Amino acid sequence: MSQAIESILHETRLFPPSPEFAARANVSGMAAYQTLVDRAQADHAGFWLDMAHEHLTWHKPPTRALDESNAPFYKWFEDGEINVSHNCLDRHLDTQPDKLALIFEADDGKVTTITYRALYHRVCAFANALKAQGVKEGDRVLIYMPMSIEAVIAMQACARIAAIHSVVFGGFSAKSIQERVADAEANTIITADGQFRGGREIPLKKAVDEALAMGGCESVERVIVYRRTGSTVQWHEGRDLWWHDAIAGQPEECPPTFVSGEHPLFILYTSGSTGKPKGVQHSTGGYLLGAVTSMRWVFDLHPNDIFWCTADVGWVTGHSYVAYGPLALGATELIFEGIPTYPDAGRFWKMIQDHRVTIFYTAPTAIRSLIKAGTDLPRQYDLSSLRLLGTVGEPINPEAWMWYHTVVGQERCPIVDTWWQTETGCHMIAPLPGATPTKPGSCTLPLPGIAAAIVDETGHDVARGNGGFLVIKKPWPSMLRTLWRDPERYQATYFPNDFGGKTYLAGDGAQRDEDGYFWIMGRIDDVMNVAGHRLGSTEIESSLVANPLVAEAAVVSRPDDVTGEAVCAFVVLKAARPTDHAEAKRIADELRNWVTQQIGPIAKPKDFRFGDNLPKTRSGKIMRRLLRSIAKGEAITQDVTTLENPAILEQLTASAY
Ligand code: WTA
Repeated sequence: MSQAIESILHETRLFPPSPEFAARANVSGMAAYQTLVDRAQADHAGFWLDMAHEHLTWHKPPTRALDESNAPFYKWFEDGEINVSHNCLDRHLDTQPDKLALIFEADDGKVTTITYRALYHRVCAFANALKAQGVKEGDRVLIYMPMSIEAVIAMQACARIAAIHSVVFGGFSAKSIQERVADAEANTIITADGQFRGGREIPLKKAVDEALAMGGCESVERVIVYRRTGSTVQWHEGRDLWWHDAIAGQPEECPPTFVSGEHPLFILYTSGSTGKPKGVQHSTGGYLLGAVTSMRWVFDLHPNDIFWCTADVGWVTGHSYVAYGPLALGATELIFEGIPTYPDAGRFWKMIQDHRVTIFYTAPTAIRSLIKAGTDLPRQYDLSSLRLLGTVGEPINPEAWMWYHTVVGQERCPIVDTWWQTETGCHMIAPLPGATPTKPGSCTLPLPGIAAAIVDETGHDVARGNGGFLVIKKPWPSMLRTLWRDPERYQATYFPNDFGGKTYLAGDGAQRDEDGYFWIMGRIDDVMNVAGHRLGSTEIESSLVANPLVAEAAVVSRPDDVTGEAVCAFVVLKAARPTDHAEAKRIADELRNWVTQQIGPIAKPKDFRFGDNLPKTRSGKIMRRLLRSIAKGEAITQDVTTLENPAILEQLTASAY
């Protein structure tokens, strides 16, 4: 990045926490935050060792935090012995056995709850079932399940016996399962006959059968099937086994297998910019510490909270903030099988009302689609239980932030915009809600003990106000340890020699303002160079979304003879997609003028394309490489089989205005 990314967004609104919120927060006020930051700066390893002793229950406490002798293959708490499931379940048995651990709401609205004691027994029984089937410490278990109490049980049971799980999101195809099974050499698959989403039944076992028929999955010895939908499935005698048969007669006590802090807890595959998915490998002790400290600091968890993270367990968010973090802190959490728009777009708000949710954590893409579905819809529900809101997954446009703040949070709830990644394991840059004044669109400041910085291509810090590469300069406990059986790719991707080989490269562009606040500008390859100006796509997208006509926008660049690159905007309007050319052109011109006014002429999109929606991955991320191909007028070579609605490709490729 030869020039700094130019920041063209001027957001000056500031939202400090209310005195009431600050007064009862786990970290109360900026001075308390600063004390933690200073402690970590003075003694990085010592700070994290103290945290590990304070917040986790060890079978044998670690004597040493960090081993840097083989950087960037860092080790944390290696001589400690611990079990994650023991921390999530056993340690609450004496203090709060009858507290609800999980409240599960099914797609059809049926609610099932489970206490800590009951969850402990069910995890133990399933762990014993896995053992009885021959699953051993270090074996890989692939989990392909709907959002359910059983999905959490499956993950916790693996953790209990120190098997390494790899959860694959239920929306992924048979081919994705096959690739992941083959790469991880899993010997066990846990799945369900099917799942319900939006009133429809979607088969799961069928995809597993197809995956295993593709070849390369010879490692698989058994498939355990949880009966969810009751529909007919093909059965492979000797390989397949029902969940209820597997647990029949199993004792409801199972001593946890204590392992080194460095033992791999899970592998989670995530897409790289090119090639096969990366098997991000996480540890036991350091990972759990990150989940626990961030639950306390960022979600400000209190004993009487009802916590709801809407993420599926197929994503890292569903690991750290569904399966592990909340349970480790003894929280009551809501989990949901369905989708936000079924039976109507009030579903989230109704669930918050019905379950008296206090902390709500979701993705900007969900927020924007719910704004589109009905700006005032949340006002029809009683959202008075809410005290804290959060977002994750992509930058949130300031206008969407303001809507979340006013309409959902009723100007009462702080918003934690949390920047992190599959690789980082837990929140890295985020407000502490009882301390950090927030600015719409900024993820604010690094957590204590997280050495986030912005550097140029030579690895030197850039001046405040300039953009550059977001990096983490010191190892942290919940970082990935390697890519599964691919240490070279780990090193080349995250610790490139250009940056000295010990600095973690996040792959995002970012900028820091004069207050030191971080503004994420999108992935590095989303950064455009228009007429010699480096522009982050997020800023232009935010400006478009701030226009009253626009529901959602994505911006990419294409080569241009005059300006080097030209800005191309893909826009979903709040009203119907314009099908009349003159009308489309008029709206395009209006939006061009708008961006010119909001940001300046350099950011003005050259092309506008309109669709009913944007092409997204199953996790809701906009498929930018695909948009780049469309913008350039290239043939589409990407895999579009996972697209929610392939018809929108035709709309977007049809004409540019
Ligand atoms: C993006 C999700 C801006 C970023 C936990 C990152 C964000 C990628 C934010 C990781 C945020 C995540 N603001 N951008 N608050 N949170 N991102 O691995 O580009 O699915 O690198 O992890 O999402 O996505 P992942």
